[in-house]
Amino acid sequence: MKIQLPKDSVMLSPQFTYGVATASFQIEGSATNRLPNIWDNFCKKPGAIADQSDGLTACDHVNLWDKDLDLINSLNVDAYRLSISWGRVINQDGSLNSEGVNFYIKLLDKLKQFNIKAFVTLYHWDLPQHIEDNGGWLNRATPYLFSDYADKISQAFGDRVASYATLNEPFCSAYLGYEVGIHAPGISGAKQGRTAAHHLLLAHGLAMKVLQKNSPNSDNGIVLNFTPCYSHSGSADDVAATKHADDYMNQWYIKPIMDGAYPELLKSLPEDVRPDIHDGDLDIISQPIDFLGVNYYTRLIYQANAQTIFEEVANDTALHTDIGWEIYPQGLTELLTSLNALYKLPPIYITENGAAMADKLIDGEVKDFGRVDYYQEHLKAVSFAIEQGVDIRGYFAWSLMDNFEWAEGYLKRFGIVYVDYETQQRTLKTSGMAYKTLISNRK
Ligand code: FCB
Repeated sequence: MKIQLPKDSVMLSPQFTYGVATASFQIEGSATNRLPNIWDNFCKKPGAIADQSDGLTACDHVNLWDKDLDLINSLNVDAYRLSISWGRVINQDGSLNSEGVNFYIKLLDKLKQFNIKAFVTLYHWDLPQHIEDNGGWLNRATPYLFSDYADKISQAFGDRVASYATLNEPFCSAYLGYEVGIHAPGISGAKQGRTAAHHLLLAHGLAMKVLQKNSPNSDNGIVLNFTPCYSHSGSADDVAATKHADDYMNQWYIKPIMDGAYPELLKSLPEDVRPDIHDGDLDIISQPIDFLGVNYYTRLIYQANAQTIFEEVANDTALHTDIGWEIYPQGLTELLTSLNALYKLPPIYITENGAAMADKLIDGEVKDFGRVDYYQEHLKAVSFAIEQGVDIRGYFAWSLMDNFEWAEGYLKRFGIVYVDYETQQRTLKTSGMAYKTLISNRK
């Protein structure tokens, strides 16, 4: 099975970057060699994780990293997106943990030997628990701790990193973690959600300044997720409700960065749920970025609701992945062209895109044809956006391998490599082969 792009697509030129992505908590394991974090704690909460699992072993990547990097190299990718576990590299007193730092340095050096660019994300949700115990992202001191971590780690890594992202998906950290409570640390409340979002954005801005100083030769930016909002009907009420949802979930995170302002919606929120914004915060948040990372999986459809303003409408006739997300590749093209029309964007990387499928390992093979289709259609969607003038420089498959899928535990598989969690054996799926072929033929 092949992935095919339009013949003249720039995505077939060697200048276009292809990669695979992972995140520290989802793959690393070796939890005793780092500080406990909010996900360790959340996993202990009854009912929080669908299969009652945790990240204590995960894909055992801290022990198997060398082989995992050989596997990455065998895919012929140009880049590998990984995240750093804050509590593995920074001790509770704020000093560097040399054992943790050396783990990542060995890994980054090996990537360099392979000529694979390291795309490093500094925060993919694993906040050290002692920081949460002081209020976590609700505490205005946390952005400053983050900036200090960014400072120390970027100095330690030197010139090994091609690209730094400050944060992964602040929407998920703030909204899922502090507003609806289905992710760590499991706090609920609109005030808390909006406060966490503001502090995360502040952390991003502060860290951007540090990264531009310590690592001027890397591309430094942020990774945002977008779930484009579509109106259920053309009625004025549904359209307005959908715009509200979009401003609340999507534009809330990009507009302060690009325009130095929150969406107008902020002013219509009840005063007691608005974040505490200090003078100068938006100047810090709107530091110029070298790139914007865009994560896309699906869209959502909304209609008006008298109590909650907007509500989701299921699209039962559409195809969905194993995690219940509608497959809607056209949404990716429309997202990219609409962002390009709304903002003066820096170059874009699609930093995550992929599908959960109910994979089965049979006679040493995983024939995940549904996932091949998903990649085929979404890569084509990226190519269409480029044709329409959006400056997109690269694409990362989520994920390199099956891993701990947050509140879903190990039940949902997103990898292009299958992981047998009993034996830690990795098996390249059909989608992995197709992705490798696409990349290899281009070169
Ligand atoms: C994104 C996360 C990533 C992974 C995918 C499926 O929201 O960034 O860690 O869980 O979803």
